[in-house]
Amino acid sequence: MILAIETSCDDSAVALLDLGGKPLFSKLASQVKLHEKYGGVVPELASRKHLTSLPLLLTEALGHPAFSPEKLTGIAVTYAPGLIGSVLVGLSAAKVLAWRFQVPLWAVDHLEGHLLAPFLDNPSLTFPYLALIASGGHTHLIVAEEVGQYRLLGKTMDDAAGEAYDKVAKMLGFVYPGGPIVDKIAEAHDEVSVQFPIPLKGKPTLDFSFSGLKTAVRNEATKLDLLVKNAPLMTFEAFQESELSQDRRLLGVVKSFQEVMIQIVTERFKKALKITGPMPLALTGGVACNRGLRRGMTEFAARRNLDFFVPEPKHCTDNAAMIGLVACLRAKKGEKGIDDYFRLNAASKSPLSLMETER
Ligand code: KG4
Ligand code: ZN
Repeated sequence: MILAIETSCDDSAVALLDLGGKPLFSKLASQVKLHEKYGGVVPELASRKHLTSLPLLLTEALGHPAFSPEKLTGIAVTYAPGLIGSVLVGLSAAKVLAWRFQVPLWAVDHLEGHLLAPFLDNPSLTFPYLALIASGGHTHLIVAEEVGQYRLLGKTMDDAAGEAYDKVAKMLGFVYPGGPIVDKIAEAHDEVSVQFPIPLKGKPTLDFSFSGLKTAVRNEATKLDLLVKNAPLMTFEAFQESELSQDRRLLGVVKSFQEVMIQIVTERFKKALKITGPMPLALTGGVACNRGLRRGMTEFAARRNLDFFVPEPKHCTDNAAMIGLVACLRAKKGEKGIDDYFRLNAASKSPLSLMETER
């Protein structure tokens, strides 16, 4: 059994998995309420909150009927990338637990967790597959060849996809994280009012760029007098109760942005498939919760007769089950966890060879 810890950003998460990678317990303490009014995660608040949330989750996991010290074979923990203070809280707890139970520690790259997360809910997924990790911090298009063997085809040159959702939502007056709010509004409205430009269209690249799109949305919002600068940010519930929920200008901008995001993502897969040849497709990371994108990708894959895999929403956003899964899959390959873990350090950047694009 593996005990897994994830604290790289604003959620504390703990999971227990059997060695086949099946989650036996998986729980998360969300910090959304703490950060929403700031329009983004405040790193210092996040790490302090982990200090109080993580021990409660660990107490629950260690007291869970599925947990047994004799069966525990390792502790898996995110050691990079992320907010360094937040990562350090989880890593320190993991080291102490590894020492207490005298088991090895599995140092897991958060990106690898997202990349392999589709296996948690899709037993029929096999390597190789073409995946887009779309989260609040990363937008990476990757061919997953094997456990530990990844080929990066493209990544964002500026903001991540989730960041684009959050920033567009914020400029329209919504709290953090704005992605789920855009999703809800777009699902309930069908009128596209603007065709926003598709970034890097016609360029020979598999990279992403969202800053131009963000500016285009800002310009449109300014033109329609929808740009929110200093007013307090609004939750989805407050929006629903306000007159704005009937404002067709606002609804149209949100829907148009959502539609262009679907076009951007499916266009990238289309282009990548020309290089990789047909293979199963996967969408993962927090943005993969987005219903428009899930539908868009399902239809895209069906038209090409390709399988498409996406984790359940709880495994798209940050969670500890995906971190434990990486350890399980690596152990299955015969790899060993780390025994001299007290020397291990946290890192804010991903050490996986995924930071540079191979061409
Ligand atoms: O993977 P994740 O939980 O954390 C990171 O590793 O960054 O992703 C969080 C991101 C946020 O930007 C959030 O707005 C976005 O995922 N997100 C969504 C949806 N749910 C979460 N974006 C669009 N539609 C959603 N339904
Ligand atoms: Zn993440």
